[in-house]
Amino acid sequence: MESRHVDGSRVMVTGGAGFIGSHLVRNLVHLGHSVLCFDKLSYAGHRESLDDLASSSKLHWCIEDVCDPQAVRSAINSFAPTAIFHLAAESHVDRSIDGPLVFAQTNTMGTVCLLDASLSYWKGLDPARRERFRLIQVSTDEVYGELMDESSFHEQSRYDPSSPYSASKAAADHFARSFRRTYGLPVHITNSSNNYGPFQHPEKLIPVIIRHALAGQTIPVYGQGLNVRDWLYVTDHCQALIDVWKKSAPGEDYIVGARCAIRNLDVVHAVCHLLDSLSPLVNAESYRNQIQFVKDRPGHDYRYAVDPDKIMSKLGWKPAVTWEDGLRKTVQWYLAHSSWPRIKNLESSKGVFREPNLGTESDQS
Ligand SMILES: NC(=O)c1ccc[n+]([C@@H]2O[C@H](COP(=O)([O-])OP(=O)(O)OC[C@H]3O[C@@H](n4cnc5c(N)ncnc54)[C@H](O)[C@@H]3O)[C@@H](O)[C@H]2O)c1
Repeated sequence: MESRHVDGSRVMVTGGAGFIGSHLVRNLVHLGHSVLCFDKLSYAGHRESLDDLASSSKLHWCIEDVCDPQAVRSAINSFAPTAIFHLAAESHVDRSIDGPLVFAQTNTMGTVCLLDASLSYWKGLDPARRERFRLIQVSTDEVYGELMDESSFHEQSRYDPSSPYSASKAAADHFARSFRRTYGLPVHITNSSNNYGPFQHPEKLIPVIIRHALAGQTIPVYGQGLNVRDWLYVTDHCQALIDVWKKSAPGEDYIVGARCAIRNLDVVHAVCHLLDSLSPLVNAESYRNQIQFVKDRPGHDYRYAVDPDKIMSKLGWKPAVTWEDGLRKTVQWYLAHSSWPRIKNLESSKGVFREPNLGTESDQS
């Protein structure tokens, strides 16, 4: 660990150099908390995403692996957090299909490792601090599998994961719940829908569309683009996580989403439409002409949609950013940050994955 904490609320964020994690860290630091960013800086972790906080005394780094019990234990014990947000994960569905082992290791075993270290730390706290401590397991709506109708997932929906990614997250959630039931560890599980916004890794759907469009390449769309995803602007997700930490009764889990279910093809059209006006092609043609339908992903869930009624009614959370505003901000951000990130080592640290094929790559989860 590079530096010790200062007094005040101390919050540990695993995966804090990733897409959602970096927004969460920024939000927490702006709220005045001291934050330990625990991240192994895999291909998906970028320290540069937090460059704006480089001079902040509130941000501390621990570059370690969440699967290393000794490292996790030592980080927690020396930083002494009041809350831990657990986001460190392998997050790309296509990669999980190519190489599931690292997903089981990071997402499931890494979570068990964190739960185990948190439990011994929590047991050693004095009663007042033990009462305040919370661990938030940040999960996904993909654990519920697919919907074939117009309904939505809610907190009681049955887990039925389809991909190795969602199975590894589902297993992690089960462990988190078991630590709550067996040991009383104050864990919340949040299951959010698809996030979008600045700093998302270029392999994910919206950055892929932008990158391919601007490079004059085909924009790949799985199947006929009819799969539906429910979109949430990343800062709204982070606010929801903070509300769960601050406002929820212990032991409650929450679905997080903005009631914004959209077909993938409509997402592609919306991004092309924005690019047509923000970065028009010299021949005045639409970027839509670059769309190419490609072979569908195996086990591709048809529809995800979530019902956020509980977090809205119990905690008063609601999304602040509309789809139109959020998508415009996102596209504008990528246009202004075309070199972010230097695409480092798209292969995993263990070399399990293929180099994504730009002709067919397209995460549409
Ligand atoms: N992106 C979404 O739409 C979405 C939706 C719901 C839930 N989630 C969950 O939110 C979390 C963050 O997602 P994201 O999109 O920001 O992912 P991301 O891939 O952008 O970031 C993951 C971060 O975890 C770090 N990491 C990976 N393996 C690690 C390890 N072994 N030890 C320590 N750090 C490690 C990476 O370096 C990276 O900084 C994940 O748990 C994901 O399942 C994501």
